[in-house]
Amino acid sequence: MRKLTYYVAATLDGYIAGPGGQFDFFPFEGEGAAAILAQFPETMPTAARGPLGVAGRAAERFDTVIMGRATYEVGSTASPYAHLRQYVVSSTLSSPDPQVTVTADPEALVRQLKQEDGMGIWLCGGGKLASALRDEIDELIIKRHPIVIGSGIPMFDGPFTPGHFTPAGSQAFGSGLTITTYTR
Ligand SMILES: NC(=O)c1ccc[n+]([C@@H]2O[C@H](COP(=O)([O-])OP(=O)(O)OC[C@H]3O[C@@H](n4cnc5c(N)ncnc54)[C@H](OP(=O)(O)O)[C@@H]3O)[C@@H](O)[C@H]2O)c1
Repeated sequence: MRKLTYYVAATLDGYIAGPGGQFDFFPFEGEGAAAILAQFPETMPTAARGPLGVAGRAAERFDTVIMGRATYEVGSTASPYAHLRQYVVSSTLSSPDPQVTVTADPEALVRQLKQEDGMGIWLCGGGKLASALRDEIDELIIKRHPIVIGSGIPMFDGPFTPGHFTPAGSQAFGSGLTITTYTR
């Protein structure tokens, strides 16, 4: 069965963006960036694949991406991951790009996608959608940067319900970036 993986960049204090949606404080450089490009080339936006040298790279693990409406609207184009199957969760978005499918029922979508053949399903974010889908998440891959921002958009933005994940591997880089995988 296909897995739903929440693959996301976060600060030490658990935020995925600043209070105004800022994310430019996350560095993308050095051996950490090289490892991300090598292991997750399909997670680069389509427009950046050429400049980043991964335009010809096959996907390593994901063929589908799911975004919350706010995350989708951060993108500079209406089809930010045109090389993947793109789903946006929203009850307000009416006319997205034809390459994007909109749904208001993320759990039903994920259950249906998990029944289909294919590669992994990338839960891109943000925090509200991750919270809504928390029970469906099979794997967390957190790119944790050694930065504290004090307030912002949390990795999971929802009710207080403690739940445990099992560590399944970690990579550490000289910059202080860690990429840690957890399974349910
Ligand atoms: N650091 C990273 O790797 C990373 C990755 C992704 C995103 N981000 C950041 O995360 C921020 C956005 O996160 P966010 O938590 O504010 O918003 P979000 O989860 O991206 O989107 C929230 C919207 O998604 C829809 N939605 C979510 N759950 C739903 C449900 N259960 N049923 C129906 N619709 C649902 C709603 O859209 P409607 O209001 O249209 O109904 C809701 O307003 C952005 O600033 C982005 O830059 C960071």
